[in-house]
Amino acid sequence: MPYVDLSQLPDLPLPFMNRDHAEEFRLLEELGQALAAHGDGKGAVESILERLAVLAVHTREHFLHEEAVMRETGFPAYLPHKTEHDRVLAEMDAEASAFRRSGDAARLRRYLLEVVPRWFVSHTSSMDVVTAGFVAARAAPR
Ligand SMILES: [Fe+2]
Ligand SMILES: [Fe+2]
Repeated sequence: MPYVDLSQLPDLPLPFMNRDHAEEFRLLEELGQALAAHGDGKGAVESILERLAVLAVHTREHFLHEEAVMRETGFPAYLPHKTEHDRVLAEMDAEASAFRRSGDAARLRRYLLEVVPRWFVSHTSSMDVVTAGFVAARAAPR
């Protein structure tokens, strides 16, 4: 994965979270490739837009999975964790809209390959680690 580094993500005690995180990075990697192809004059804008839509759906599912187990187990910091998810979903939607409007691939590349991975490593290493530890101690394995 030349665009994002999966090894930066923590290995969590809940396999479904690791799977969702790996998929998130795989989709970012595909977007990196689509943006590079577009920059070389080889890729269509549509392929970037399609991948952005898939990323938006997957990210929602990923966050919903975590939010469901937090609610099921009565995780005390549910609200700050969900608030952070909601903030990133809104930001991701705004950046996708900005790209659809302006076609500014450099801005989208910075967002997807710098801002999002940085946030992702920080979020999975803090909120997701605490959540996974709490849930794993209380829930049956998924
Ligand atoms: Fe997560
Ligand atoms: Fe999370």
